[in-house]
Amino acid sequence: YIHIEENELGFCYVQGSIDSNNGGFTGTGFANTDNVNGSQINWKVNVDFDGYYALEWRYANGSGTARTASVSANGAQSEISFPTTGSWDSWLLDSTTLFLKAGVNDVILSANTSSGLANIDSLTV
Ligand code: GCU
Ligand code: CA
Repeated sequence: YIHIEENELGFCYVQGSIDSNNGGFTGTGFANTDNVNGSQINWKVNVDFDGYYALEWRYANGSGTARTASVSANGAQSEISFPTTGSWDSWLLDSTTLFLKAGVNDVILSANTSSGLANIDSLTV
């Protein structure tokens, strides 16, 4: 497995900030995207073989409604919904499947609503 924290190689960009004000995160913090449609987090994920991979995020959504997003890499796209976790310091895992190519993939998680993304703690592939 490849596990990427916000402070590690592979974590490239967050349209927002790396925060630590809500507890329960791993590493040094979590990605808090701006609450706008299209807010993004980007990772570089290097895999050995072409194929379908499970992309699993650790996330918190303390709002009352699910936050939906698109995930893409190399032209492949998938949809994911991050249901409420009840509070901003309660974290759950959520995953989707995406086709990755051998080598480095630019994985983009992009918000589909004006609420932005859920807070994202890590990505495991
Ligand atoms: C709160 C929370 C943030 C979160 C934000 C949001 O302000 O502390 O971490 O990102 O809500 O609604 O996205
Ligand atoms: Ca936010």
